[in-house]
Amino acid sequence: MLNIPAFVDMHCHLREPGFCEKETIETGLASAHAGGFGAVCPMANTNPVNDNIETLKFIKRDRVYPICAVTKGLLGKELVDFAVLKAAGAVAFSDDGRPVEDMKLLQDAMQVAKELDILLISHAEDLATGSEEIAVERELEILPDGCRYHFAHISEEKSLELIRMAKKNLPQLTCETAPHYFSLTGSTKFRVNPPLAKPQDVEAVIAALKDGTIDAIATDHAPHTLTEKLSPTPPPGIAGFETAFGVGYTYLVKSGHLTLEQLSEKMSLNPAKILRIQNDKTILVDTDCVWTVRAADFKSKCKLSPFEGITLTGKVIL
Ligand code: DOR
Ligand code: ZN
Repeated sequence: MLNIPAFVDMHCHLREPGFCEKETIETGLASAHAGGFGAVCPMANTNPVNDNIETLKFIKRDRVYPICAVTKGLLGKELVDFAVLKAAGAVAFSDDGRPVEDMKLLQDAMQVAKELDILLISHAEDLATGSEEIAVERELEILPDGCRYHFAHISEEKSLELIRMAKKNLPQLTCETAPHYFSLTGSTKFRVNPPLAKPQDVEAVIAALKDGTIDAIATDHAPHTLTEKLSPTPPPGIAGFETAFGVGYTYLVKSGHLTLEQLSEKMSLNPAKILRIQNDKTILVDTDCVWTVRAADFKSKCKLSPFEGITLTGKVIL
């Protein structure tokens, strides 16, 4: 048994307000706590969208650090009031779920973010092709030095190479990946966005975790109902809180790629630093515990997992 800092999830979806059939803040927090997360940052794609003070104040509470939208209604047309939302407690800004594709608008957002010392989080996807790389490249082209910019859920070798190069000249550039991108490949039937990549991408994600190109591991916990996930057109997203540490420990530490201390940095220290939040809670983990994932036992309302039936080593005990 080991005492380590509680995890900080800089990217999740708690679904409330608006989609309480998928998850509520309460069930999401119970799931996060079971997974060892002492702080979580829910994305803005709720209903109403978290682009206004009222919604922000409703979501914000102990251990919940909301991320507000970059554009009103996540529509990519008009920027939110960054100053007001920052003052009211928004910890970052992102249109996650969608990219901001109007480069002029994104450039304006980057300028304001730089002036106000705000963290922008990019969902890098070229909607026409689905490519992550194309989006990363065009966003890096317009990124001003000094803007705190963070790429969410990076999954591909080519985008990682672009970020690796760019980071040499941009100390405020950071990025994250999610557990499913260093453990699963596209052959798995669960739909997520970005999609599960090829084995060579999984290897590249692991290499980027090792060399520090990837600063943080975030869950992108994105619950949906069973009916939705079993429909012919399932929405992208999987439950992530309760398997994150076990997947990290099994695929990164047990396999010899990272030390436990390095994994802890990616799940606690670095995200807290990027977000500038205090993380003084600790958790107890058992790195010898071998257990089999049974999503039926999740505290999350979403009882489906791509890791169902998989045996993991490493569990959060308290
Ligand atoms: O898999 C995903 N689910 N990726 C996203 O970008 C959005 C998220 C969701 O909100 O369900
Ligand atoms: Zn997301």
